Amino acid sequence: MDILTLGNDLLHEKATPVDNIKKDSARWIKISQEMFNAVAQGNGVGLAGPQIGLMQRIFVVNIEGDVPRVFINPSIIETSQETSKYEEGCLSVPGIWANVVRPKTVKVQAWNEKGRAFTIEASGLLARVILHEYDHLEGVLFIDRLSEPKRKKMLDKINKQAKK
Ligand code: NI
Repeated sequence: MDILTLGNDLLHEKATPVDNIKKDSARWIKISQEMFNAVAQGNGVGLAGPQIGLMQRIFVVNIEGDVPRVFINPSIIETSQETSKYEEGCLSVPGIWANVVRPKTVKVQAWNEKGRAFTIEASGLLARVILHEYDHLEGVLFIDRLSEPKRKKMLDKINKQAKK
């Protein structure tokens, strides 16, 4: 499974909702399994559809100490006013890490790969990864959440790496 990297326009496009998850569950089970494999291979913690050129609203999260989770058609119901800052990376922006400010907690409603609806209230790393992956469905990368000077500095760094 090839992961798209910065420079690919699909990473800046909005993904579309999935229809009939239950009816196509065999497909979504297979896709989510492949996405978990790609996460493991890249030593990541999550992956969203657009990162593999799948422009549909699905992402997977697999962080240590938690069960692997699939989110299809997620909606963010609530985020905390309180924020936290933490260093993030992304399989689509290899070699770059930066501190990103995000809400500390998030409440999300979604469906899993079998078409079962669920709601989760997350905090800590799980909340952060959910918000990062959700951003991918909106065509937003973590570097887009940095201040303009910082973002520019990161892009310069990426361009320099690409020239090597
Ligand atoms: Ni990412």
